[in-house]
Amino acid sequence: MCGIVGYMGNQDATPVIMSGLNLLEYRGYDSAGICTMASGAVEIRRSSGKLVNLERLLKQQPLHGNIGIGHTRWATHGKPSIANAHPHKGGSVIVVHNGIIENYLLLKDELTRRGHQFLSETDTEVISHLIDEKFTADTSFEEAVRQALKEIHGVYALCALSEKDDKTLIVAKSGSPMVIGIRGNEYFVASDMPAIICYTREIVIMEDGEMAVIRNGTVKFSAIGGGELEKISRIIDWSPLKAENKGFPNHMLKEIHEQPQALRNVVAGRVREEEGDVVLEGLNLDDTSLKSFERLCLVACGTSWHAALVGKYLIEEYCRVPVDVEIASEFRYRDPLVSRKTLVIPISQSGETADTLAALREARDKDAHIVSICNVADSSIARESHGVIYTHAGLEIGVASTKTFTTQLVALYLLTIRLGRANGRIDLRKGQEMIAALSGLPALVEKTLGLDSQIEEVACEYLTSWDAIYLGRGISYPIALEGALKLKEISYIHADGYPAGEMKHGPIALIDVDMPVFILAPRDRHLVKVQSNMEEVVARGGRVVVFCSEGDFKTGKGAEYALQIPWAGEALSPVLFAVALQLLAYNFAILKGKDVDKPRNLAKSVTVE
Ligand code: AGP
Repeated sequence: MCGIVGYMGNQDATPVIMSGLNLLEYRGYDSAGICTMASGAVEIRRSSGKLVNLERLLKQQPLHGNIGIGHTRWATHGKPSIANAHPHKGGSVIVVHNGIIENYLLLKDELTRRGHQFLSETDTEVISHLIDEKFTADTSFEEAVRQALKEIHGVYALCALSEKDDKTLIVAKSGSPMVIGIRGNEYFVASDMPAIICYTREIVIMEDGEMAVIRNGTVKFSAIGGGELEKISRIIDWSPLKAENKGFPNHMLKEIHEQPQALRNVVAGRVREEEGDVVLEGLNLDDTSLKSFERLCLVACGTSWHAALVGKYLIEEYCRVPVDVEIASEFRYRDPLVSRKTLVIPISQSGETADTLAALREARDKDAHIVSICNVADSSIARESHGVIYTHAGLEIGVASTKTFTTQLVALYLLTIRLGRANGRIDLRKGQEMIAALSGLPALVEKTLGLDSQIEEVACEYLTSWDAIYLGRGISYPIALEGALKLKEISYIHADGYPAGEMKHGPIALIDVDMPVFILAPRDRHLVKVQSNMEEVVARGGRVVVFCSEGDFKTGKGAEYALQIPWAGEALSPVLFAVALQLLAYNFAILKGKDVDKPRNLAKSVTVE
């Protein structure tokens, strides 16, 4: 998603903005731009593609000035191109924007009728023209922005400059994230803290409906609708981890290999072996409150939604509490049936996914209690929840979630133990057993990572396939979905995940010699059934690769390849099977020469609908 960096102070703005944009690269983008202002003269540089192109342009045509704004664009309205890259200038006003302006066509028509000329296909350009139109001799820049924003419907975080007021940088937020860092009389604006935390740890987190006017070494906060606001800055005490490859060819492979440590981190300090229980420090619910909920509702998008599906299996199985799993973008518009008797659990790596955040707000407005599962500290979803369970996976740069998925699975496993102990469905012995199973998990992940060369051989064999099917049953069904998503997003091979028992109701028609079928067959209660489903595929000439449990030699009969995954027990087997499927997708993508860290069209943090 788009990234914004702004600066106003006494140093040259360009290096500050470019270093910030580099640190926001993980969000995904297709073009970038920067604008600085010196003595009222504005200069803009924009380029398509990677930031290195913008850096090259800046070497040829440098920019100077103590005020500036920069942007990495993830296209929503208008194709990726230099013309559509931000900043956009309308009259004297220059804007960078993250979000979507829903009524931009209407506004554009009206502005065009009044003589404005547009140079891009973006919704953002409309904002700059609208502000410019309002910025008259009788109206200040600040007031012009305020008036323009009243006419805008949609989601935004934006920075605006004007040639007619060269001492002012205006920031506004409604729906997309924005923070302001303060160091003396210098101000750093960014979509995300890691972009500016190397300059200052004093941060003000902007909330929706707020505006900041930075002028002459001071900042004034107000509601967009009017009325000054007292905002308190906070000192950030965590350190953003550096995105280093540490000898790996890319971030994704490094992050796949970080899983043993990430899984240690999510568990560290939380288990009480003797009590057969766990302590979840941010849960903020005592036993009485925790067991009082009539149902749980897990809400998420993409990979996090797959984790939620695994969570349903775990919680219903061990705690006997009904669990609904919701896709956030559906939930938010459905007038969902939640109440104060519902524990709603948004799951999000970034903590900024717009749909998940909106679902959280919808549930909160209906009095539900919210405990989120998040990876990013102080993210919007974490801040707006009553409680939060952090996954402690560390920084994930690769767009495809890997370690953040498996740590979500373990966070849900820990929550299952806590809830089961609170409501009495998990007794002391079972609790101790479940905790003991966790201790061996990192080593089993290491062992699974050791299957890489066998998995690479599988990827080589089926490299020319254009489609693939993933089958799983029970707790492995969501992992089949996740395996298929991983393959799609980084190798661009079409793949579908199905519950294995559903094959005969339609997808079996797709089986032929060109279609690899990846079957998840752990040694759990579904094994015999899955074996039958596998035979149905083999009998129709399908090419089967089976992921079975270590030592289950018979399971592989009839398959072209059988990969033996270490056995961690039914409840934790999804972690190990997920790791194997990450390696499978990774190998396909690398053999096809794809950029696994930045797959086309995708963004790490999806802050628009
Ligand atoms: C998965 O590899 C993707 N990165 C994507 O599906 C992601 O899980 C989804 O966008 C949700 O993101 P979140 O966990 O940050 O909310």
